[in-house]
This record gives sequence, structure tokens and C-alpha cells, in this order.
Amino acid sequence: MKHDILIHGGQVITESGATKADVHIVDGKVHAVAPGLAAAADTPRYDATGKLVFPGLIDPQVHFREPGLTHKENIESGSRAALAGGITAFMEMPNTNPLTVDPATLNDKLDRAHKTAFTDYAFFVGGTAENAEQLGEYETLPGCAGVKIFMGSSTGNLLVRDDPTLERILRGGSRRVTVHSEDDFRLNDRYKTMAATAKVTEHHHIRDVECAVMATRRMLDLVELTGRPVHILHISTAEELDMVRERDLGDLVTLEATPNHLFLHAPDCYEQHGSHAQMNPPVRERRHQDALRQAAAEGLITCIGSDHAPHTLEEKAKAYPGSPSGIPGTQTILPLLMTAVRDGWLKLEDIVRLSVQGPIQVYGIKDRGPLAPGVQGNVSIVDPEFTDPLPLDWLESQAGWSPYAGRPMAGLPVATILRGRIAYQHGEPIAHQDGITSPVRF
Ligand code: DOR
Repeated sequence: MKHDILIHGGQVITESGATKADVHIVDGKVHAVAPGLAAAADTPRYDATGKLVFPGLIDPQVHFREPGLTHKENIESGSRAALAGGITAFMEMPNTNPLTVDPATLNDKLDRAHKTAFTDYAFFVGGTAENAEQLGEYETLPGCAGVKIFMGSSTGNLLVRDDPTLERILRGGSRRVTVHSEDDFRLNDRYKTMAATAKVTEHHHIRDVECAVMATRRMLDLVELTGRPVHILHISTAEELDMVRERDLGDLVTLEATPNHLFLHAPDCYEQHGSHAQMNPPVRERRHQDALRQAAAEGLITCIGSDHAPHTLEEKAKAYPGSPSGIPGTQTILPLLMTAVRDGWLKLEDIVRLSVQGPIQVYGIKDRGPLAPGVQGNVSIVDPEFTDPLPLDWLESQAGWSPYAGRPMAGLPVATILRGRIAYQHGEPIAHQDGITSPVRF
């Protein structure tokens, strides 16, 4: 089957802004981007008049819970949510059950994704004291997104607390290592001394700024010691941003922000959404949100990752701290970033920088990029006229809830094209079990 399509009449968003142009995809790859393109009469066409034409977004941080936690989500439902949100590739985290910590558990996920994923995929391998010496080999396996380290406990029991083990992991390979940066020693102390009556409104005081700052300081020290590049996930404090600026380690340290830290702030988010705003590291006060927005706009933050971390409504209804941390979000990245453009703190081209070029740069992803001849023909079509409250029934995640449901948006993804084929349109994914998805290449 030919994977050709002519997307005509839209505004193409590139790294330098919006231009009126058509996009001709031939055999799954972008062939031309220019106004008034012609194509053979039998080429399928997509009329993008009035729409924005983005490159397919990459979500470099999701938890799709399969295997082992599929009452929360699975690769099929999570990737359907991603696809509906204009994402054409995801990179999934290793805190499943069993943990993804060796070739067998990685290949199991790749097999599952081959059968059920609606988008392209890659999977992280968790770094542990036990596999530290093998990670250099594991990170080169096809479909491996790299090594993920949890310095602080979150969902699951993947944890590397101490500097000697962290150093062993960092010395054991060469690809960029991805880090959840909260200091587990301090977290333990904080939970031990926490009042029995503590509520979710105190989540960001319990897992306080110092928990994040201490871990990031330790990690930057280890980066200087070992020369290994790291990527700090879901950065949450103004203090860490200042520290990264001051230490000036260049490309050795890249940063990722979640939409939650950019679009929610304490205490309002906890008062309004309760445990539905509870995640790790926590969403913090407005001064942190402002600093993160500024860092995203100026480029200190390299990419956006949703940290899509679904839990069921029943689980989230448990009394704090029994309510698990995590917020679903892969599907809402693009509509939220459109509200940032509406509100003037990001530009349309920043969406391409943060959600396409950023992940590509951080992880060395091949074949993908802003729409230009030669890259994969992955496209997300956005309707900028959509200004309604975000409909809950648009969301595909098994979670069935989102702190953003009901919030007015400034654009909605309406179609997603994967290597020249319409994969999602009119609220419906197109059948996935015909081998149209594949592992991301690094
Ligand atoms: O809030 C979080 N939830 N943060 C994490 O790092 C893990 C995630 C999860 O898997 O639920």
C-alpha cells in the first residue's frame, strides 16, 4: 500500500513559525513543503484549510502501566490517547510489574507494543544496583529509549538512593540518562515526621523544594565527576533552574517540564482538584510555575513530557497520602500548549521546539523532525477555532479523569497522520493491527 497524502490549505508550523503551505508525503516521508503543491490524481488528500499543521509530537515520558498495572492503563489505551492528542511516538517508563530492567522485560514490552500500540514507541530500562554493569549494553538494544533512574521513591519500587550506585550507573554507558530527581533520604525523613492529619494540600510541603534541590545538586555533581549526560525529568522548582544556569554544564544537562508544572500551581490546584493534582515531584506555588514558564520560553527547558501517570478514580479517592501520585496527560499536551500561545508566553514555533526538536535532541532520535523533505511523514492537524471547555468524553485514557477537563482550550488536535496514513480522525483511531507502527530509532 502506498503511504502518500497531500495535506493542503493549512498553516504549517515549523521551527521558525507559521507559513501557509501544503505538505506532500510520498511513501511515508515528507517529499515537499510549499504552497500550491500538485500530486497525482489518485493521491489521498486532507483539506487543512483553517487548520494548523504540526509535525507529529513526541511524548518522551509516559507510564502506560503494561504489564502488571493494566487496571490503570495499557499500551493500547495509553497510545490511543497519545494519538488522539497529536502524538506520533511515545517513550515509556520502566516502573511496571515486572520492572523493565533487562532485555527480556524490554522485549516483552516491544512485542506488546508491536501488537497494540497506535503510535510509534520506545521503552526505558530502569537503572538498579543489580543491573548497573549491564546497562551500557541494554541501552543500545533496538527500541530502548535509554536508562531511567528514580533517585526518589514514587509509584513502584524502582529506586537508586545512593551516590556510589548512581556513579556506577553513570559510568556504565554513554547515552543520556534520564533522572527522577528527588532525594529519597530527605523524602523518608519528611514522611516520617509528617502529621497524621496531613492533607493533599500539603503534598508540596512534604515533598518540599529541598527534596528536589538536594537530588539535583547531587546529580549535577555526579555529571561533573563522570562526564555522563543526564536529562532531569519534571523539573519543579525555580531553585533547580537557577542551579542549572549557574553550574552551566552545557549540553551535559538537559531539562524536561510537564504540562502539570506549567499549567497548575499550588495551593489552588489542590483546593480545586484534590488528589487529581497530586504527582511527584509535586506541583508547587506560582513562583515556580512562573520560573518554569520563563525557562520553557527561553530554551533552558529542552522538552515537554507529559509524565502521563494514570491511576483509577477509586485509587485517587483514597485518603492522602494513600492516594497515589500521578496525573494522566499525554492527550492534553497540545491543547494546553495552544493555550500558552493564546496567553502569549509561548509561540507556535515553541511547540515544535519543545515537543519535536527537544526530544529528538535529548535522545538522539532519528528520521523525525519539523516538516521538511526527508523526515517521516508524521503530522498533527490542530483546529485553532476550538475554544470550548476540554470535553471529558474526548479523553481516551482508561483513567477517565483529567484536571484539565472543563478548562477552556485554544485549539484541539483533530487528525493525526502516521507516515503518510491518517491514523486518527473524527474522534476515531484507525485500525492499528496492520503493522503501521514501529519502534523509534535512536
Ligand atoms: O507522580 C508520579 N507518578 N511521578 C512519578 O515519577 C511516577 C508516576 C507514576 O508512575 O505513577
